[in-house]
Amino acid sequence: MKMKIAIAGAGYIANIHAQAVKAQKDVELVAVVEKFPKMSKPFAKKYNILHQYETIEDLLKEGGVDALVIGTPNALHAPQAIAALKAGLHVMVEKPMAMNVSEAEQMMKASQKYGARLMVAHCWRFDRDVLWLKAQTGKLGKIIRTKSYGVHVNWGPSGWFTQKKHAGGGAMADMGIHALDTARFLLGDPKPVSVYAKIGTYYKNFDVDDTGVIIVEWDNDAISYIESGWWQPHADGLEAATQLYGIKGFGQLFPTFIKDRHERLKDAGFPFPREEHCPQSMYDDQLAYFLDCIRRKRTPVPGGLEGLTNMRVVEAAYRSTKTHKVVEIG
Ligand SMILES: NC(=O)c1ccc[n+]([C@@H]2O[C@H](COP(=O)([O-])OP(=O)(O)OC[C@H]3O[C@@H](n4cnc5c(N)ncnc54)[C@H](O)[C@@H]3O)[C@@H](O)[C@H]2O)c1
Repeated sequence: MKMKIAIAGAGYIANIHAQAVKAQKDVELVAVVEKFPKMSKPFAKKYNILHQYETIEDLLKEGGVDALVIGTPNALHAPQAIAALKAGLHVMVEKPMAMNVSEAEQMMKASQKYGARLMVAHCWRFDRDVLWLKAQTGKLGKIIRTKSYGVHVNWGPSGWFTQKKHAGGGAMADMGIHALDTARFLLGDPKPVSVYAKIGTYYKNFDVDDTGVIIVEWDNDAISYIESGWWQPHADGLEAATQLYGIKGFGQLFPTFIKDRHERLKDAGFPFPREEHCPQSMYDDQLAYFLDCIRRKRTPVPGGLEGLTNMRVVEAAYRSTKTHKVVEIG
């Protein structure tokens, strides 16, 4: 039987997820949950979706759906995910997983209690350059530090993204979290030990951050330097990238290669610059993995644990900014 999928939201990322659903076999996109009919109507028409609901409760009342992909404003991630998990639906929720650590913990608990899978869409773990570099890390010796950024140059989002009550945080929660998760993935998912950060709003007038630098110390003795930003005058390269400094060598994304102390060892060989920084194939592979975890009854990675760990670092970074102190993560 075909797995039946619903998508919450009908905006930018929902379109990408809808295309990802359409790219899979044995699944059907049967419903959209969207507050505004002016968004849901054209979305349903474009992707040939039978049911449109304004709330998750309406969707759950009607039933007939196996999994929900959540691409709504961040403040809705936890309530929508928890309601769906309680009803036994498997959930893939966009990053950032939630507004804070407490919400993320409740989502994880709901997934465990009701036996439904919870995946967090940390999409870069499905990117071919990232996966290539990950496969090379053994050649770099112990990785002792990473440097990464997620930055928009001369641009930033508007609307709910810039309102704390809807987004929770700004560029750090939006872009920095990609850089953080990529660094952590490439390091082999160590646990964070402490965070020092300076995050602020300098370029625009809104109540979330547009600039941030954070330093994370991990339990494998590595350290990560992470930059986040919207409206920046400059970025080191494309929208996001990561560098790995090992005892024996160096590796980086975009262009993606590894080198030893003196010369290049290997190039990933993928076209650079890319046609699109965030290719549709990355999201297609991400969704395929989510569906595979559902079918095989496996806990997705990135799942609640990875999403929660990132939320712990982000929350500690905001706290560190307030206190001007290193925040230990227990
Ligand atoms: N992984 C990525 O590459 C990536 C890229 C962009 C966005 N995102 C994430 O996806 C999420 C959505 O971002 P976006 O850019 O698509 O935003 P968006 O504003 O384009 O879309 C959000 C949608 O949610 C709808 N919505 C608002 N309130 C609602 C409600 N109560 N119920 C149902 N729908 C409601 C809006 O009308 C809109 O259609 C965010 O969490 C963002 O961080 C991830």
